[in-house]
Amino acid sequence: MGKPTLLDLFCCAGGAGLGYARAGFDVVGVDIEPRPRYPFTFVQADAMSLDLSFLQKFDAIHASPPCQSYSDLAKRNKNAEDWPRLIEPVRALLVASGKPYIIENVEGAPLINPTVLCGTMFPELRVIRHRLFETNFSVIVPTHHKHPKVHTFDKRKSHFGKTDEWKDFVQVTGGGNCTLAAARDAMGIDWMSKGEINEAIPPAYTEYIGRQLLAHLANMKPERRIA
Ligand SMILES: C[S@@+](CC[C@H](N)C(=O)[O-])C[C@H]1O[C@@H](n2cnc3c(N)ncnc32)[C@H](O)[C@@H]1O
Repeated sequence: MGKPTLLDLFCCAGGAGLGYARAGFDVVGVDIEPRPRYPFTFVQADAMSLDLSFLQKFDAIHASPPCQSYSDLAKRNKNAEDWPRLIEPVRALLVASGKPYIIENVEGAPLINPTVLCGTMFPELRVIRHRLFETNFSVIVPTHHKHPKVHTFDKRKSHFGKTDEWKDFVQVTGGGNCTLAAARDAMGIDWMSKGEINEAIPPAYTEYIGRQLLAHLANMKPERRIA
């Protein structure tokens, strides 16, 4: 028997995809833009127009629809309507597929009973990056530790000059609180551009979810597990 398969919708350059591959899945990514740095099989397509029969070829489906509309920044700038709000239609598609699914997004997104993961939960990470995961299978939540001070280039911050971006926690945002090299090191991602890593989730998050997804698949009745 081959490895179980996972469809990585809205895959960008593959932060989520790498975690599932490490957990043991064969991963296929879909993005509307060309993604030459995606490390697995890639299909350029609009995820919202994929046939149900294509989705049903996979053992499980992950989706990371665009988060801009749900972000604090859009709320502050009052421009949330400038971005697509895809979570509800994506959920409808995934439910219709009948497959185990994960929808990932930012705090403020309308996910149902999500698991929140943070870089402090993973010893190999140095990033404060909350991401929400809605799943239709159960996920054990790791311990959430107190947030340390994050590295900053902002001279107005009281801890400016007292942290080291190669040792301390960082935040990876469009604003730039650390260099790209330090962001890659802190997130466990060594192949992405600045624009791609700003959008990415640390592979450690989906490796963690992926291992629980594997256990769920192993417990499913064979006729529901086989694509
Ligand atoms: C937040 S990023 C995903 C990040 C990814 N999960 C990771 O960990 O690296 C969202 C991606 O959705 C893509 N996208 C936006 N609308 C799309 C659509 N209708 N179909 C497919 N991809 C789309 C964008 O090009 C972008 O790469």
